Amino acid sequence: MGFRTKQIHAGVTPDPVTGAILTPIYQTTTYVQNSVDEYLAKGYSYSRSGNPTVAALEAKLTELEGGAACATFGTGMSAVHATMLAFLSAGDHAIISDVAYGGTYRLCTKVLSRFGIEFTFADGSNPEDVAESVKDNTKLFLTETPANPTMKCSDIAAISEIAKKAGAVHAVDNTFLTPYYQRPFELGADLSIHSTTKYMDGHNATVGGAVISNTAELGEKVRFIMNSTGSIMSPMVAWLTLQGCKTLSVRMDQQSASAMAIAEYLENHDKVEQVRYPGLKSFPQYELACKQASGFGAMLWFEVKGGLAAGKQLMDNIELWSLAENLGSVESLITHPVSMTHADVEEAERARVGIIDGLVRLSVGLEDTEDLIDALAKALDQA
Ligand SMILES: Cc1ncc(COP(=O)(O)O)c(C=O)c1O
Repeated sequence: MGFRTKQIHAGVTPDPVTGAILTPIYQTTTYVQNSVDEYLAKGYSYSRSGNPTVAALEAKLTELEGGAACATFGTGMSAVHATMLAFLSAGDHAIISDVAYGGTYRLCTKVLSRFGIEFTFADGSNPEDVAESVKDNTKLFLTETPANPTMKCSDIAAISEIAKKAGAVHAVDNTFLTPYYQRPFELGADLSIHSTTKYMDGHNATVGGAVISNTAELGEKVRFIMNSTGSIMSPMVAWLTLQGCKTLSVRMDQQSASAMAIAEYLENHDKVEQVRYPGLKSFPQYELACKQASGFGAMLWFEVKGGLAAGKQLMDNIELWSLAENLGSVESLITHPVSMTHADVEEAERARVGIIDGLVRLSVGLEDTEDLIDALAKALDQA
């Protein structure tokens, strides 16, 4: 079955009682058992451990990634957290790509470091830097690619090799490209993490997360943490995400085509200092982006000439683009990572990894490309 067929039908069968084509929202805490001896005969005990609506989404995401198991979570951050709790203990070391979502950086440096876990932030675009960071106690590699917000791409296949040699697990945060464009398991990774808040939902309706595992054994470890810590996805969120997934490829193709046109427009604009989009030949890891993904996605950033002050003016004045956190939705969003999504990353670390003060991040939505460019043109005229 092709991806488009799977995104609609995988994990979902008509309701056996009514024939309803959409999986019902099983809004229930518990499940009445046949007898003590037949406990779990229908597969469910309590909705923290499992719920039929959530299970339908987990089955769909497993098939879309080409994995063996999936556990879903209340947010993308709880999916990242569960991955760390599943594979790291006090005294262990993890290697994280040196640009990652600010929340992931904060979780490592301000929360898990308090429990005796050590983190190294290595340059994932340079596998040698990653290999040099390996220690005897390295148990987990987490690669976010393309990275939020710089778009830096890390070499999934090369890092998977390094992780295998180290006897460690390699998790890829696949939020930006989704399995429609990027297939971590085919490149040797063990786990694929999503903030389903972004492209999987795609409509700014929910927050959620998922970890898809390449083997049932890894999947059980993640699911154990999900059940133990209790940061689960609700049936309502799962139901909305199930509907969002059905149009994933169509949204991504259209949003990415618009992103390409916008990146080219900005690159040729005389008020723009620089643009970063993996589909541009000027992108530092353009060849890697072409090699390991089948699309470039709909995220990009640019810097206005005049830096921070000019960028702020543009973000405050622009029409159509909403100044907001989040990405991957049908609504186009404009974000200032230094003040918003990455405000908790220290100034020196931001400077080290290229999160410059004037960086303006765009999440390209589904509006007409011309309207999005017109709005940018007007805002640049005033900048
Ligand atoms: C790449 C990436 N991973 C994880 C997260 C965290 O997801 P959530 O906001 O759903 O907790 C985000 C949020 O922006 C993200 O961009």
